Amino acid sequence: MKNINPTSTPAWSALQALANKHADRPIRSYFEQENRFEEFSVKLEDILIDFSKNKLDKEIFGSLVQLTEEIGLKDAIQSMFGGEKINGTEGRAVLHTALRNQSGDPVIFEGEDVMPEVKAVLAQMKTFADQISNGQWLGYTGKPITSLVNIGIGGSDLGPVMVTEALKPYQNPNLDIHFVSNVDGTHIAETLRKVNPETTLFFIASKTFTTQETMTNAHSARNWFMEYAQEEKAVARHFVALSTNEKGVTEFGIDPKNMFAFWDWVGGRYSLWSAIGLPIACAIGFDNFEKLLSGAHAMDKHFQNAEFSKNIPVILALIGIWNTNFLGATSEAILPYDQYLHRFAAYFQQGNMESNGKFVTRNGEKANYSTGPIIWGEPGTNGQHAFYQLIHQGTHLIPCDFIAPAISHNPIGDHHVKLLSNFFAQTEALMNGKSLEEVTSEMEKAGKSAEAIEKIAPHRVFEGNRPTNSILVKQITPYTLGQLIAMYEHKIFVQGVIWNIFSFDQWGVELGKVLANAILPELRDDQMVASHDGSTNGLINAYKEMRK
Ligand code: F6P
Repeated sequence: MKNINPTSTPAWSALQALANKHADRPIRSYFEQENRFEEFSVKLEDILIDFSKNKLDKEIFGSLVQLTEEIGLKDAIQSMFGGEKINGTEGRAVLHTALRNQSGDPVIFEGEDVMPEVKAVLAQMKTFADQISNGQWLGYTGKPITSLVNIGIGGSDLGPVMVTEALKPYQNPNLDIHFVSNVDGTHIAETLRKVNPETTLFFIASKTFTTQETMTNAHSARNWFMEYAQEEKAVARHFVALSTNEKGVTEFGIDPKNMFAFWDWVGGRYSLWSAIGLPIACAIGFDNFEKLLSGAHAMDKHFQNAEFSKNIPVILALIGIWNTNFLGATSEAILPYDQYLHRFAAYFQQGNMESNGKFVTRNGEKANYSTGPIIWGEPGTNGQHAFYQLIHQGTHLIPCDFIAPAISHNPIGDHHVKLLSNFFAQTEALMNGKSLEEVTSEMEKAGKSAEAIEKIAPHRVFEGNRPTNSILVKQITPYTLGQLIAMYEHKIFVQGVIWNIFSFDQWGVELGKVLANAILPELRDDQMVASHDGSTNGLINAYKEMRK
């Protein structure tokens, strides 16, 4: 990977000048140009991305594309797909794309094709998922499995949660699925209350098989199970491991036969395509899991082959760079108009913020520009009645991605047209706003007094000019969901390349873990502590008093 400070490129300087020149230009003025929508939208199969409601014109867009050339994006893409160790601080390749590679081409890592191993684990997953789906995998008392419980956290939880929620219409009706992630005992306790040990299968999902939360929950689940089953050999029917750590899995007491492996070139937050996806495959069936992989593979091919000015992940990344680095946005909202996608924003909070939330560049220096924004969001229309006030009238610029399916899985009455009328209206309102003149004339027509108009009208003004992308999908299917996830993954990658940071490590989560491990033994007795700063000592000692 090249090591270039993006601010040193000619394209960056050009963009800076363009940002100054166009600072006050309203987005709607760009629509004076004919074919704005056609030129600033792109379609891939059943997905349409409209990025025309952004503060950019052809010249700005051209300079953004130029930036990708000056930064060496083409080579970076080849490095990732080619198995180079682009995760420089951990010395690892980044090959989650191999997990969904359906091209028949080899993927070479350290001189060897990884595809035979990938296919072998997929075959193992298929056999297992089929047995669960068909009710052939029996629990220790001979009953088929009816409840799936995934125990994992971060990337070993969020992907499977998001996907199984998003694809609920495809879920096997004979199975229910639960996720336990938090080390707060409430999470496992509430879940175990809902399931029967005779018919429950636990997936212990952890890349490292050392994560405190997961191991604690896994031990509690096993203790609970053993209270019923009594005999150790029953564990084999009810516990499987999804991990890269065979030794850890064996020490926990899971037979390596019941382990589904993956590799250190799969990052945790990019792992739903790997064995970590086994609960997904069991819940929606292996065929549907394969379709999810196919969709992601189609997006991989598009990302590798489409020219950058028509390349969806590249375009989304460049718009993000424009908003963040030139227009001053510090956050981005992901707003799916689809209740099934209610964990989509949460999933990409990890995907994006754990990847690009970094202040140190690839050459070890402090970045003198902004990197990853804060990612957040909730489904529409709920968000409209909660936080959209700030998006419309607050003092922050919050670029939003609106996502909606044209076809609902639940076509009840006129719900879906009502939902979509909101989807279309919001981006229109955010762009156009409503001027003081418009508000005044509206209030006059409604017969309001001059005094009332003077007092109230300013509060009813919408400045507009707030950028959005609209992502319209024919329907949320396993295939289109795979495309959407891969689209955002590659957006994150492109931005990390431009920001010159290592997107595939996560050192920022370490310090808190280390300090928690140091504090844990101090909480096991009632001795007052004095080893920390005044606040931390005060809090720990107050806690010890309270729990007496
Ligand atoms: O929180 C850090 C992290 O390493 C994430 O990147 C990862 O997804 C999560 O913990 C879980 O890790 P593991 O799968 O090893 O339990």
